[in-house]
Amino acid sequence: MNKAFSNPIILAVDTSSIEEAEKLVLNLRDYIGGIKIGMEFFNSYGPAGIRSIEKFGVPIFLDLKLHDIPATVYKTVSTLLKLNPAIINVHASGGKEMMLEASRALKDSNNKDTKLIAVTILTSLDNDDLKDIGFSDTSDALVLQLAQLAKDSGLDGIVCSAKEISLIREKIGNNFLLVVPGIRPERNNHNDQKRTMTPKEALLEGADLLVIGRPITQSEDQIASAKKILDQIE
Ligand code: C5P
Repeated sequence: MNKAFSNPIILAVDTSSIEEAEKLVLNLRDYIGGIKIGMEFFNSYGPAGIRSIEKFGVPIFLDLKLHDIPATVYKTVSTLLKLNPAIINVHASGGKEMMLEASRALKDSNNKDTKLIAVTILTSLDNDDLKDIGFSDTSDALVLQLAQLAKDSGLDGIVCSAKEISLIREKIGNNFLLVVPGIRPERNNHNDQKRTMTPKEALLEGADLLVIGRPITQSEDQIASAKKILDQIE
């Protein structure tokens, strides 16, 4: 596990309200290892928003999924690293040169603790969607290919679904950070997630960090829900 994270739970702070985000982090910081901030929040509040959240001392996964030409990604990664996030990410489908430049930006910075990971294939895309955009392989084959490309480009890991963990561990090994969303502590409550695992199952499969949103944020007692997940995995 990334040393910056005191436990494997990364709370998905999916809100465009800074008040709501601050309240969530303040109330839950003792039970979570980190938080994930996405485009919704970052495009509303930018670096100032990150600073207002980082005062709570919880590591931040800045989930902006960069995908652009290599030179632009180099400069953008360099800029984002000034915010000192624990994790940042790019799309592996931006290609090897783009990932190499992202990786070089990290090496050229002072951030020795920031992890750079890749999104492989969005879990919202099924095999028909992939055909529509010109990919003829299945999602499993593409995920593996892109994960290997990320590894070969010097990235620290990937975001993947729980069902892909064992294949990636088998083919790419253990020295690769796997950050896994689609986690559901209760088997009967999936929201819109289709391929879920419980936190314990995902960790046993080989996940390093678990991105968990609604099972905590939409719960009537957020602290009790977070505590329960922590108890399950400790
Ligand atoms: O609420 P829930 O636990 O489903 O939140 C999961 C988080 O992980 C959300 O921020 C969602 O956008 C993100 N995510 C995902 N599946 C992916 C990548 C990211 O659910 N493949």
